[in-house]
Amino acid sequence: MATHEEVVKVWIAPGCIVCDACETDCPEVFDVQEETCVIRPEARSADFTKPLTPSIKIAAEGCPVDVIKFETIQVEGPEPWPSPEEQEAKAATSAAHGEGAGKKKPALAMPTGRPEPKWAGLLVTSRITGHAPGTAEPLRPARVPAGAIAHALPRHAPPDALSAAMVGAGFTRPKPTVAQRIREKAGLSRRDFAGVVAGTGVILAVAWGAIAASFLTFMGAFQSFMVPKVTKEPPTTFRAGKLGDYATVGVYEQFKSSNGVWIVHQPDGQLVALSDICTHLGCIPNWLPTDQKFKCPCHGSGYYINGVNFEGPAPRPLERFKITREGQFVVVDKSQKYRAELGQWNNPASYISV
Ligand code: FES
Repeated sequence: MATHEEVVKVWIAPGCIVCDACETDCPEVFDVQEETCVIRPEARSADFTKPLTPSIKIAAEGCPVDVIKFETIQVEGPEPWPSPEEQEAKAATSAAHGEGAGKKKPALAMPTGRPEPKWAGLLVTSRITGHAPGTAEPLRPARVPAGAIAHALPRHAPPDALSAAMVGAGFTRPKPTVAQRIREKAGLSRRDFAGVVAGTGVILAVAWGAIAASFLTFMGAFQSFMVPKVTKEPPTTFRAGKLGDYATVGVYEQFKSSNGVWIVHQPDGQLVALSDICTHLGCIPNWLPTDQKFKCPCHGSGYYINGVNFEGPAPRPLERFKITREGQFVVVDKSQKYRAELGQWNNPASYISV
């Protein structure tokens, strides 16, 4: 023998997001309040929920957070309500008789007469009121089963079409959104409220930008404080090639740009390391091979090949650096200086005899 399911108990598990979907699908059972959905008191009996089994199942399937739970029993006999197949067949028959596309759907039948006793309590507490289409007189509170409106919708209508249809038909009034509630409390128009929101957004953006800039500035200072400042200066002591590189008398400039030193093989047989800093005001003189002299471009001071000044404002000879031999290599140490006017050029560390 055929059997079918009937819902004998419904409850709401924790986690309701107050989306109104269940009350839209089955308002006889579900009452969406401010913070959660509750089961209406009259819907706590099996006799009440049994005939509403299809709507309850639709509501449970449509719950986005799956908090609608129900208990069923198997009842002998066929389902007392139309099956989905029968509903589809009915819709197909209507379409075949030209009642489908291109034709306006018949208006929803409003309930008339005294409500059944099992609806009476529900109607008293119902928040759904409406007007008959085309009339100015408000009707007494009436309830249209969600299934009736769902049946009037196209088969593949989107999930929120039922809600829209209920609102559009005037049977339900959507609850105000949070923005609407704030706007109404503040007494602002929609345009003013949008301006306030936009202004608040700009202020927040500026505030966050200022915080970010402060943070970056702080991090920059912190990084500057923590990371040691290293200047890339050439080492004071360096190898200046091999002694054989300076076999002939002359001025060797290969270490001038990198180390500020001329290696000079003097006519008297000494190999010296001369500073390239003018002793007048610190300019960098040039070696003029044709004139066989160092010439400062700033104020015209001139120095012989051995570094002794002979023209211009330079007050004293160029300085020498320490120069020594390490095997076949020539080593210059710029941390040790030797000045002619102080008699330091006699120091053996100020020259190499070649
Ligand atoms: Fe060299 Fe003045 S700096 S002459």
